[in-house]
Amino acid sequence: MKNILVTGGTGYIGSHTVLELLENDYNVIIVDNFSNSHPKVLDALETIANKKIKLFRTDIRNKEKLEQIFKEEAIDAVIHFAGYKAVGESVFQPLKYYNNNLTGTITLLEVMEKYSVRKLVFSSSATVYGTPEKMPLIEGEPTGATNPYTRTKLMIENILEDLSVAKDTWRLLSLRYFNPLGAHNSGDIGENPNGIPNNLAPYITQVAIGKLDKLHVFGNDYPTEDGTCIRDYVHVEDLAKGHVDALQYLETSKKGFDIFNLGSGKGYSVFEIISSFEEVIEEKIPYEITGRRAGDLPVTYADTTKAQNDLNWKAQKNIQEMCRDSWNWQKKHPNGFED
Ligand code: NAD
Ligand code: UFG
Repeated sequence: MKNILVTGGTGYIGSHTVLELLENDYNVIIVDNFSNSHPKVLDALETIANKKIKLFRTDIRNKEKLEQIFKEEAIDAVIHFAGYKAVGESVFQPLKYYNNNLTGTITLLEVMEKYSVRKLVFSSSATVYGTPEKMPLIEGEPTGATNPYTRTKLMIENILEDLSVAKDTWRLLSLRYFNPLGAHNSGDIGENPNGIPNNLAPYITQVAIGKLDKLHVFGNDYPTEDGTCIRDYVHVEDLAKGHVDALQYLETSKKGFDIFNLGSGKGYSVFEIISSFEEVIEEKIPYEITGRRAGDLPVTYADTTKAQNDLNWKAQKNIQEMCRDSWNWQKKHPNGFED
């Protein structure tokens, strides 16, 4: 298996995965419409990897174009990142999410079927566990969606499972990511949110660089030791490695469809994340406690036994490395790919 089509390959997780694939001697073909990324990501990737990378600028819902790519390239497997991911936005613009995430995935699967490419790794999310009763989260446990974004992830998992039942030559994997953090060790690619960040780490680094005044901590009255929410943060380079392990697993797997958590298995509170950033930045992060954010769970972290046993994958990097690398990227590129 040599030629890997990566949809959304210039996005945050996709770009790090592209580098990991190249390091492991895969050929990469990127498809991205730059709806949430910057064309300069390609330059950064080519500089870091020191090779040319093939990229098709197109929307995966453009079936004709996608077919052309499958006709021209001898694709062996697909890693599918392309989709919208903002939970809050999905509540107000559900059709935008259903259209892009579902239509995009169905179009991709139809084209894969037509060209007999039946290996796919899909980006799912830890949010599919809904409002769980106990921790850590294990793959077989009940799922639920509290917003349209998460519902698209669950629907796609169902579609993949149905496909695997319909034809036993499909090999489909869903990876449920926990909270990605960090950036490439070069500091030249990283998370590059449009506008004001929704997520904790980019918000903190933008406060530290002086773009934002202060962090708003969404609630300190949760039933946790320091009252703030606990999440399972995982270095984006570890996540990227998980995709290479997933591809290797698909080569020999007898299962048509399977699901794996990708997390570190450890939980950190918002205050602990602030402290870790303060250590690497060597400055205090100004913050204010505000009310809870709707839909936030007090605690989530993964059981990673299945990924360890079957994929031979385990997160290696600790929270200091995650904060250091996020900060390094922010410091080196205060305006993201505009610098
Ligand atoms: P991202 O927005 O940085 O990357 C997604 C990429 O897909 C972008 O480059 C965007 O331009 C592209 N894209 C979107 N729709 C497209 C379309 N129709 N055609 C072609 N390209 C398209 O997001 P990310 O953080 O790298 O996440 C990648 C995947 O992982 C997403 O599916 C997301 O839902 C999932 N995920 C992300 C997180 C997270 O916290 N970052 C957590 C769990 C799951
Ligand atoms: N938080 C703040 N202030 C902020 C941003 C976040 O206090 O400005 C808190 C949140 O309340 C939460 C924690 O920091 O307690 C982490 O919040 P994030 O928004 O960074 O991450 P979430 O766990 O809410 O969700 C993220 C992505 C989802 C993804 C999920 C995977 O937004 O898309 O991780 O578990 F699916």
